[in-house]
Amino acid sequence: MSHVKKLATIALACFLVLGLAAWVSGPKAKKRSAEEVSSTAAPAASANDQLTNANMQAMLDQGRHTFRYDTFGDEAFWGGALHLQQAIAGEKLGGVGPGVSPKIALSVGLKIDADALPPSLVEQIKAGKVNLDDPATTLALLKLNSVVGVTGFFDEQGKLQSMGIQCAFCHSTVDNSFSPGIGHRLDGWANRDLNVGAIVSLSPNLQPVADLLGVDVPTVKKVLASWGPGKYDAELDQDGKAFRPDGKSAATLLPAAFGLAGVNNGTYTGWGSMTYWNAYVANTQMHGKGAFSEPLVTEKQFPVGAKAHYNQVRNADDQITSKLGALQFYQLAIPAPKAPDGSFDKAQAERGKVLFSGKANCASCHVPPLYTEPGSSLHTPEEIGIDDFQSSRSPTKKYRTTPLRGLWSHQKGGFYHDGRFQSLDEVIMHYDQHSKLGLTTQEKKELAEFLKSL
Ligand code: HEC
Ligand code: HEC
Repeated sequence: MSHVKKLATIALACFLVLGLAAWVSGPKAKKRSAEEVSSTAAPAASANDQLTNANMQAMLDQGRHTFRYDTFGDEAFWGGALHLQQAIAGEKLGGVGPGVSPKIALSVGLKIDADALPPSLVEQIKAGKVNLDDPATTLALLKLNSVVGVTGFFDEQGKLQSMGIQCAFCHSTVDNSFSPGIGHRLDGWANRDLNVGAIVSLSPNLQPVADLLGVDVPTVKKVLASWGPGKYDAELDQDGKAFRPDGKSAATLLPAAFGLAGVNNGTYTGWGSMTYWNAYVANTQMHGKGAFSEPLVTEKQFPVGAKAHYNQVRNADDQITSKLGALQFYQLAIPAPKAPDGSFDKAQAERGKVLFSGKANCASCHVPPLYTEPGSSLHTPEEIGIDDFQSSRSPTKKYRTTPLRGLWSHQKGGFYHDGRFQSLDEVIMHYDQHSKLGLTTQEKKELAEFLKSL
């Protein structure tokens, strides 16, 4: 083709494309009625789109199932090594001690999934005909798979043989629609009632934990008792640091695990991405059977983790790795819950929104609508005006800007990684002093109302 002919062909092509575009966007197209648009707007999905759609649904279902029910084989630890099931069943039912009644279970923050209860049982509970002081009832609830985040394993005679935990143990709660602690599941919500330390402390055999940490059993008990409700220490079995220099517990608040789509750095210190952290927790905290690699788990920073070979976990019977994809997909799909009407003052929140991005300069880090930075969201302790205890326990040595959506749902236990600020007013006061913002009392109130609205 000659040069001239080529140019002519290109010009013709351009003319056709532009003409077509003008025709499509022309007045004729705009005049189409609403009915015409709705009947033609969604073209039939192509075969490939259909494949993706089906995959999306399958991953969501799988991921939800994993999040709620998968123990990843961790019953070998919680049941097999710690014998927690014996403490739950109690002496009368083949275990040890008094056993754990539903009342005790609810008092340490365990939740019951009302949707797993058959209607007849619901009626009996309503009529006060179910003994909530009897550990046998707890076993019945476990058989129904209704204790959120806990799975009981029973033998053919119905004896509780072992038990394991799931992600939902710490990262789900219920809406209390039936009664306090009993209701529909709320996945991704931080269970700030859950006293992990008290639950683990029930174990008749804490020796494996003592061995892991290189301390004695009374020391383990002291540490577990120091956590309190809504807290857990996901770094203790790495660095062995159970207490801060000021003597307070090193545990952190259970964070929200919703609204994380678009959030790059996971955890309070931005230790890793969501899927990194999912593998970390399933292998090194829940003690499931899988694979995990992190060469940064070195003798120097993480003596306990290095001894336990957390830098390179490999189980022949890997029950985690194949589930990571769907698990992440499900978590990304969980939206942050909307603040209920009436839970904040709308007019003040509107003014607080302006302050957040203006005078108070919060949005320089908490970038809306993620309310954390796209890209790197890590900051030195000095930048946010706090100590470096927790940041120094992470390979990043920094703190991650917390994504704030759904903040209203996890106010119990306080704010910042360790709950050091009891209220949003205290958080705002801290920023006001640290960053010399010069906020008036009214402005502080407006900012707090905005935070409650997210
Ligand atoms: C025993 C309680 C517990 C269990 C069980 C647990 N987590 Fe967590 N999770 C935590 C704590 C505490 C943190 C905060 C850790 C930190 O920042 O150092 C956390 C952090 C996270 C984060 C980061 C959230 C954020 O804001 O970036 C994700 C994601 C997460 N967990 C997912 C999971 C998944 C998935 C499972 C199951 C495989 C799981 N967790 C099991 C306690 C738990
Ligand atoms: C320099 C970056 C930066 C700025 C500016 C900033 N934040 Fe933060 N914010 C952070 C980091 C990092 C954390 C995590 C601290 C921790 O967990 O210890 C955080 C945590 C929070 C939390 C606690 C969330 C929770 O779940 O506990 C709130 C609330 C908050 N910020 C609100 C604000 C407000 C309001 C402003 C403006 C007055 C502001 N932030 C300005 C970086 C920043």
